[in-house]
Amino acid sequence: MGCEFAGEMKYARGLEGVTAAITSIACIDGEEGKLIYRGIPIEQMAEYSTFEETAYLLWFGKLPTAKELEDLKEKLVKERALSDDIIDHMRKFPKDADPMDVLRTAVSLLGMTDPEVKNPNREVNIRHSIKMTAKIPTIISAYHRLRNGKDPIPPRNDLSHAANFLYMLLGEVPDPQIERIMDIALILHAEHGMNASTFAAMVTASTLSDLYSAVVSAIGTLKGPLHGGANTRVLYMLEEIGSLENVEKYVLDALKEHRKIMGFGHRVYKAYDPRARILKRYAKELSEKKGDTLWYRMGEEIERIMIREVGKKGIFPNVDFYSGMVYHHMGIPRDLFTPIFALSRVVGWTAHILEYLEANRIFRPRAIYNGPIDVEYTPIEKRQ
Ligand code: CMC
Repeated sequence: MGCEFAGEMKYARGLEGVTAAITSIACIDGEEGKLIYRGIPIEQMAEYSTFEETAYLLWFGKLPTAKELEDLKEKLVKERALSDDIIDHMRKFPKDADPMDVLRTAVSLLGMTDPEVKNPNREVNIRHSIKMTAKIPTIISAYHRLRNGKDPIPPRNDLSHAANFLYMLLGEVPDPQIERIMDIALILHAEHGMNASTFAAMVTASTLSDLYSAVVSAIGTLKGPLHGGANTRVLYMLEEIGSLENVEKYVLDALKEHRKIMGFGHRVYKAYDPRARILKRYAKELSEKKGDTLWYRMGEEIERIMIREVGKKGIFPNVDFYSGMVYHHMGIPRDLFTPIFALSRVVGWTAHILEYLEANRIFRPRAIYNGPIDVEYTPIEKRQ
């Protein structure tokens, strides 16, 4: 009997410690709390780069020349608009849908109506990566307008990726400080190795399915509260805690009852997530700018208590802990925080697929069978 029995095969729960690919896109040093994109420390990317340049770096493996960057920006800008057909479909979506479900469905629609989807090759896959990256901000903001009974705001060609998104979403061109902070948040979320949604995208792509299908898989995976959904839940948690005085009891009770504090812990980082460190600075800056620092101060207090209680277990703030506060102070509704994660991470998903398809092999792990064997088939009339 050729089943996979316990004891005969290695099993890694949640695939912990399993190596599934070789990549030159990003590397995480979980012990030291370091992250590099194509070798460049994330702190330098946040300081000097832009989202568009980061996308070029992740997709093509090097920083672009000025001309290469202009070309990519032009391609992204050209692809920003959605067809009337897609907008008409979106008008029929329920007004109270989860925006991640909307995004998943709209990306699926894009794939269904893309004539090139049937004949994918590297050039087509690059075009699809650019198209999805360009259109996802438009989908998110169009849906937000539609659910509020307003018409979508068409994209503008003269704005950066970050500024155009905020403009289409909120109806105003952001000031340079807000634009830059959004740009940095997008840089920080663009890529993170073999995380669950990237792996889901790669599994789909490894069957030689198309890139839209792979990104649909990834969006569905990112949605969960253990992955990209944590940023939204951090704000619900802050609201539930309510005040600085309640923080200590809330955190200690949660730990005692084995409830997770959202925005903490990571499979790879056993130190402070470097992205959280950068976002924390901007959460502070924005909450001071808005004159509303309560959540930031509560966040610092949660962090202090968590590190005191479970820091020795390697549990520290992750990228989702302060990102929600940043978006909140930009006036963005909280159910859009995870879609914004997808807006940026689509670059990492597609970069990994482009890389993996260079030497593709279908993902096909096995499972240990612990059920019965040699069971006789019982006819339906004899079943109890
Ligand atoms: N609060 C309290 N305890 C925690 C937390 C937390 N946020 N995270 C992990 N632990 C404890 C957990 O209870 C367990 O303790 P014990 O060994 O005593 O049973 C231990 O740490 C290991 O936890 P795990 O869930 O087995 O770890 P994992 O590697 O399977 O999960 C994680 C990683 C990110 C899913 C988890 O830390 C978690 O659920 N965090 C909260 C959700 C969150 O913030 N997710 C965003 C992750 S970062 C962005 C992204 O990738 O999307």
